[in-house]
Amino acid sequence: MFGDASHHVFEIALALAVCLSIGFTLFLLTLPSRYDPYKNRAPGNSAEGEDDGKQSDAEGKVPGKSLWGAGKTFQIVVLGDIGRSPRMQYHAISIAKHGGKVFLIGYNESEIHPDILSNPHVKIVPLSPAPAILRSSSKILFPILAPLKVIWQTSNLYYALCYRTEPGRWMLVQNPPSIPTLAIATIVSFIRNTNLVIDWHNFGYSILGLKLGPRHPLVKISALYEKLFSRFASHHITVTNAMARVLKNDYGAQAVTLHDRPASLFQPISSQARTSFLTRLPETSSYAQDLTSDSTSTPWRLLVSSTSWTADEDFSLLLDALCAYSAQATSKPNLPKILAIITGKGPQKEHYLSRIASLNQEGKLKNVVISTAWLTPEDYALLLASADLGVSLHTSSSGVDLPMKVVDMFGAGLPVVGWGKFEAWPELVKEDVNGKGFGSSDKLWQLLVNLFEDRDGLLATLKEGALKESEYRWDGEWDSVGGKLFQLL
Ligand SMILES: *[C@@H]1O[C@H](CO)[C@@H](O)[C@H](O)[C@H]1NC(C)=O
Repeated sequence: MFGDASHHVFEIALALAVCLSIGFTLFLLTLPSRYDPYKNRAPGNSAEGEDDGKQSDAEGKVPGKSLWGAGKTFQIVVLGDIGRSPRMQYHAISIAKHGGKVFLIGYNESEIHPDILSNPHVKIVPLSPAPAILRSSSKILFPILAPLKVIWQTSNLYYALCYRTEPGRWMLVQNPPSIPTLAIATIVSFIRNTNLVIDWHNFGYSILGLKLGPRHPLVKISALYEKLFSRFASHHITVTNAMARVLKNDYGAQAVTLHDRPASLFQPISSQARTSFLTRLPETSSYAQDLTSDSTSTPWRLLVSSTSWTADEDFSLLLDALCAYSAQATSKPNLPKILAIITGKGPQKEHYLSRIASLNQEGKLKNVVISTAWLTPEDYALLLASADLGVSLHTSSSGVDLPMKVVDMFGAGLPVVGWGKFEAWPELVKEDVNGKGFGSSDKLWQLLVNLFEDRDGLLATLKEGALKESEYRWDGEWDSVGGKLFQLL
């Protein structure tokens, strides 16, 4: 009897060992090529990272050698829609501008920045989206669907990073999403001899916490996972000083802050250009007369909000404030009417569209017109420059991230009111200088009344502050932080 049992154990162990060794052999046989710092290097130069900029010029003249020399190939990874990842697109543009070659890996869904599409040094490597059934947002099925989706993403991402792209000296990964991105990026950068750089936009576990509740075991596991894999990266970039502090204190990781800045697309415009844009855009054309000052006694105000229609942006705050404003404007005729244009796509959009429709039917939005739009990047930039006030509903799951859309609003010289009850908010918006923060729909409603009634000229002051802020640009920020980190300058 005893002999039988041990015989079985031996058989199983043998089978396992055979499987493992076959698996390992397959893994070794299919290993992707590695980044080689000595390839393409001019003779006599062996020191890594020395004067990269000059060498690439020299190498460009050597026949048969690539124009971008060693150390300038990048993989930029985002497990999301590339078109809706402006910061990763800006990284790609900046790197290419400094002679780098970029493989930009992510989903190809919405329109990608034209400067990327026209740039021969940036190659888009689209990931295949998971089958529709795995992308269902059902909370009940989440424990079953989420792992399946992760398996799909893992194989897809591994394949793209190993075989559809050249080995890079640098891999720049957006976090979040962290699962499975950080793990795959760590493994691939190890086997391909690549330096892993994590660009922290936020913490993945804090976003998962919004969906599952902060005490859910998956949220805790996810936090540990993020902490673990942050150890393997060679460098870290964060979007705020507050986030860099958290990384230092909680994760023991040293990070540099690269603040989001508006791209050159976002610029203030002249009042002539404003009028012609408002006349041209379908969403504003029928109100263009009302919105331009000379034509009527009390011109309408144009309010713009861009939302991802997700749980961390509570659109009902703005909706409630607009209803209260509309009621107030009925009794105070000197309050201007508002045209509110909401841009963006997202899961809760349909829900709010039907709420807006019923509020209209009930006559609760008599002095406010709400319209939604999905604009090209160029038109969105012009819309921001033409508006009177921008609204940010971003609530920040971690407290240390910042909404990029506010940055773009400042780029267009647009003053901003936004949800401001989180740590990093004052790093971006200076109270009474270029914007104002609110913490409830009541406060937002009061702000709208104060600013649009405009007794003390505060809106004009904020406008001035926003115009000043629009002078700080991405290129300058990137060159001083990213250019230095990646040794491109
Ligand atoms: C991305 O999608 C667009 C539109 O669907 C398509 O024209 C383009 O070729 C795609 N790009 C890549 C690299 O697959």
